[in-house]
Amino acid sequence: MKIIKAKDYKDMSRKAANIISAQVIMKPHAVLGLATGSTPVGIYKQLIDWYNKGDIDFSEVTSINLDEYRGLDHNHNQSYWYFMQENFFKYINIREDSINVPDGSNPDAKQACEEYENIIHAAGGIDLQLLGIGNDGHIGFNEPGAAFELATHCVDLTESTIEANKRFFGSKDEVPRQAYTMGIKSIMQARKVLMVANGKGKADIIKKAFFGPVTPEVPASILQMHPDFTLVGDEEALSKIELD
Ligand code: F6R
Repeated sequence: MKIIKAKDYKDMSRKAANIISAQVIMKPHAVLGLATGSTPVGIYKQLIDWYNKGDIDFSEVTSINLDEYRGLDHNHNQSYWYFMQENFFKYINIREDSINVPDGSNPDAKQACEEYENIIHAAGGIDLQLLGIGNDGHIGFNEPGAAFELATHCVDLTESTIEANKRFFGSKDEVPRQAYTMGIKSIMQARKVLMVANGKGKADIIKKAFFGPVTPEVPASILQMHPDFTLVGDEEALSKIELD
C-alpha cells in the first residue's frame, strides 16, 4: 500500500490524474476502471485539460465503470452513464463503443451482471481501477457486510445511501432502491487500484480502512491486501494517520 499526501483537493486531483495519465502513456489501449461521485470530478477536469493540450490520447482506451443504479437508463440525468458523459467522456476522444457502464435499464439482474463480468474479461481485465470511498467504507456500491468474494452483482441500497443520494433526485421516493455494482472480487482483480479521498469527513474512515483490521464491515479494508494499491489523499483526509 502506498499513500501519497496532497496539499488540497486540487493537488490530490492533479497527482491522481498524473498516475492515470502515466498508465495511458505506458499502455495506450489501457482498460481504466472509473468511478462517479464528487471526489473524482477534479481528476476528470485535469485529464480533459491535458487532453485539450494534446498531452494525452484516449482513442485506444477502454473504460469500465464501477456501478449503475438499477432502473435508470443512459438518458436519466442521475444515471452514472450520464454523469460520466457530462463530467468526462463528451470532452475527450474515447470511442463510444469503448465505454462500459453496467446496464441499469436491464431489469434482469443476473443477466446484466453476468454480461458485465464478460465485458471485463473480454477487455483483458482492468489495468487501473479508480475508487472513491464512502464514509462507511463502501467502495462501488459494496456496503458494509458485503462478501469479499462477489463479482458484479445487484445490491439493495442501504437506508443511509438512499438518504445521502436523495439530494440528487426530486424526492426520496425517486431514488432507485437497487444498483448493479462491480463486487470486491472484480475490484481486487484490477492490476492497479488508485483511491482518492479528500476532506475532513473522510479522515476517520481512512484510518479505519487502512490502519485497522481487514473486515467485510469496512469493505475498503480489503485493499490492504491488494499488491498494487495507491491512496492519494489531501491533508484533511489523511489527518488521522501517521505517515513516515
Ligand atoms: C462511485 C461509487 C461510490 C463513491 C463513494 C464516494 O462510482 O461507486 O462508491 O466512490 O460513495 O463518493 P464521493 O466521492 O462523492 O465522496
